Amino acid sequence: MNKSSKSLVFSGVQPTGNLHLGNYLGAIKNFVDLEKKITCIFSVVDLHAITVFQDPSELKNNILETTAGFVACGLDFKKSIIFNQSSVSEHAELGWVLNCISRVGWMNRMTQFKEKAGKNKENASVGLYVYPNLMAADILLYKATHVPVGDDQKQHLELTRDIAKKFNNDFKVNFFPIPEPLIQKNISRVMSLRDGMKKMSKSEDSDYSRIDLQDSEDEIIKKIKKAKTDSLPIPAKLDDLKNKPEALNLLNIYSSLTNKSIEKTMENMAGKDFSKLKNELSDVLVATICPIGKKIKELKNDNQYLQNILKDGTNRAKIIAKKNMDKIKEIVGFISY
Ligand code: TYM
Repeated sequence: MNKSSKSLVFSGVQPTGNLHLGNYLGAIKNFVDLEKKITCIFSVVDLHAITVFQDPSELKNNILETTAGFVACGLDFKKSIIFNQSSVSEHAELGWVLNCISRVGWMNRMTQFKEKAGKNKENASVGLYVYPNLMAADILLYKATHVPVGDDQKQHLELTRDIAKKFNNDFKVNFFPIPEPLIQKNISRVMSLRDGMKKMSKSEDSDYSRIDLQDSEDEIIKKIKKAKTDSLPIPAKLDDLKNKPEALNLLNIYSSLTNKSIEKTMENMAGKDFSKLKNELSDVLVATICPIGKKIKELKNDNQYLQNILKDGTNRAKIIAKKNMDKIKEIVGFISY
């Protein structure tokens, strides 16, 4: 990553239920590393969550629970800005401006909309369709230069770059930096424990498909025991796992948790049964995840504490958002009073 004095990280996580191992290894673990080196802004993106109907009281709980998740995973809210998106109205404001920059043809290429809308596209919310433009607004509002995300968000980042370039071109300015995605090398996509071709996700029906950050020790052990693998011993070469996505996924998760490359893990594990990997994986998962889950549960008991974190973060985010939005309005040609 090329770091300069102007470097700024932005990322967001939707408050749509339990955080899981995919969110942690694909994104939040990286947030914790990045905030040590660079100014970071992390948002609980509630405007994104309502692109699919959310029960209002559940949404409130989920916003606080996601905030608790950020803190429990190790983010420092005194250093980084942590806030909920809807409390900084400039996100929606810039979202509209970018709806007018972005093209329908660009939107139609977004694979995540196709996956989420499924067969009933006509009945999907318009918000779900233009969601990537709002995501671009989240990033560009702060003139962020780097965006840590899982691989599933890569296409949205490419769109953000196109929108930033088109805005700069249309208005003949050099206002928005072109943001770089930061995608974990070790594990860019954590896959379902039941189907190695699908990503681990909150929306998957089976609880056995994912490890939630609030899972108990017993649940983690049970889920890993039931995870699909292979009857043959672990091979020495990565190539030999080509058609075994579930086995590869477990090895990737283990490598990421132990901060080793997949090659190193395979070197150490070659010839051993998958049951041995499963035992070791359960141990590291329990050691990493259970303290986080315990902390989330503790923090959830203190709503006021969590709300204070969001309030402070909102005040800090608003200062940057307002300054940049004023400038954007001037560039576009609006008159502000
Ligand atoms: P969301 O809420 O679905 O996921 C939050 C983060 O977790 C990553 N992630 C995964 N990474 C690896 N493997 C998985 N199985 C997995 N599942 C989730 C996601 O890639 C993401 O980084 N649109 C975004 C939220 C967003 C955002 C933004 C992100 C809104 N505005 C601006 C960055 C910048 C989303 O729905 O993430």
